[in-house]
Amino acid sequence: MDARTPQPANRQRNPMFRTKSVEQSILDTEEPEHALRKSLSALDLTVFGVGVIIGTGIFVLTGQVARTYAGPAVALSFVAAGVVCALAALCYAEFASTVPVAGSAYTFSYASIGELPAWIIGWDLVLELALGCAVVAVGWSGYIRLLLDTGGIQLPHALTGIADGGDFDLLAFLLVLVITGVLVAGMKLSARVTSLIVAIKVTVVLIVIIAGVFYINGDNYTPFLPAAQRATGASSGLGAPLIQLIFGYKPTTFGVWGIFTAAAVVFFAFIGFDIVATAAEETKNPERDVPLGILGSLAICTVLYVAVSVVVTGMQKYTQLAVDAPLADAFKVNHAPVWSGVISFGAAVGLTSVCMILLIGQSRVFFAMSRDGLLPRFFSQVHPRFGTPYRSILLLGLLVAVVAGFTSIAELSELVNIGTLFAFVVVAIGVVVLRRTRPDLPRAFTTPWVPLVPVLSVLASLWLMLNLPAETWLRFAIWMVAGFGLYFAYGQRRSRVGLRG
Ligand code: ALA
Repeated sequence: MDARTPQPANRQRNPMFRTKSVEQSILDTEEPEHALRKSLSALDLTVFGVGVIIGTGIFVLTGQVARTYAGPAVALSFVAAGVVCALAALCYAEFASTVPVAGSAYTFSYASIGELPAWIIGWDLVLELALGCAVVAVGWSGYIRLLLDTGGIQLPHALTGIADGGDFDLLAFLLVLVITGVLVAGMKLSARVTSLIVAIKVTVVLIVIIAGVFYINGDNYTPFLPAAQRATGASSGLGAPLIQLIFGYKPTTFGVWGIFTAAAVVFFAFIGFDIVATAAEETKNPERDVPLGILGSLAICTVLYVAVSVVVTGMQKYTQLAVDAPLADAFKVNHAPVWSGVISFGAAVGLTSVCMILLIGQSRVFFAMSRDGLLPRFFSQVHPRFGTPYRSILLLGLLVAVVAGFTSIAELSELVNIGTLFAFVVVAIGVVVLRRTRPDLPRAFTTPWVPLVPVLSVLASLWLMLNLPAETWLRFAIWMVAGFGLYFAYGQRRSRVGLRG
């Protein structure tokens, strides 16, 4: 290039930071008629949000976390995790309304920060969406087993969940395979079925709260916040939160630290609101309705979660809570098998839809990355008859099914959380970057108090990340290093943005 030629204004000369313009992202979208109908209200968004958010987090992790980290104070952990999510939600909503195309944080980052960060986010989203789907499938399997058990049917021990000491979670594996088949065939849950599922799920949560109150024994709340104990077994060594190791504490569980360790785990219960943010473009009055919808659904879920955890830890001593289906089990041990059955049934129905939504989300991100050339374009071929990206769905579905079959829910959910929190950090930074680099873009929704809210969001997400076990960080690091390797070996050379020049 001639020395007098003006330098490109952006950083595209460095391939790692070349960006894909927002306009190009919208042009490339799989929905060419990208002017979506603006029909959603704040109430619609809230219902959708509650439908996506409530899942394995409250139905399963509450029990595990109360037992291991926080006792009845797990209720406070839900509040802490809810606040972190609310901050991230305000950033997501701006990004989603600026770059309203499939691919979520991946697409946002490609438009704002650059190709390498976008790749990293896409790679990282696998942890949120694909592994999240596996976690929900394992949670679903626990409730189905309890239901079968109540009906006198028992699976061979080897085929029960890993948390139960089994070898292979057959039910979780089968659920993911069935969902994969449904998605390949392009079947969608109609709006009516979705609303029905949301109604069943919320009813079940309300049953736990209202019926459960009658079984509370006040003694179970003492101690509310069990005193800190030296960590043993899986919570010690590399299983201790990174922050405790950094500050040289002897790892502990329970106590005040325990509230945050628990918050970092129950954070899983809030995952999914980022999917609501992507509906910003279809909202009638996004500036008002998006924050109302997202924060409204987060607030409702937080209140429900706090209430459920207060009730359940009152129904049963926290040390006795079941690890795979704690809400239904608390009724079973209180001699209320009918409630237990109703709750198991509702949980099973509700978790199926969460599992499906997460797998759809994952296949869309994977599809977007493949269409951009960062993954082999083989995977973005659409099925001639069904019109679905069937190759990505099949590949991911099979992988998720195997992971769900063989891995324990605790390890998986922590990895999902670190991946999601990392995505929150990048999105919050992306909001600030995009305001500087593309102030001209129309934004249906703007994050308030920039840069304060994004900065707080980054700090809050990092704080929760640091409260996850050191071994989760290690797994996350290995996953990310593999991602870097793949980018330099493949994506950087095949990128369509790069090839377009
Ligand atoms: N928030 C969803 C759940 O708890 C992912 O299952």
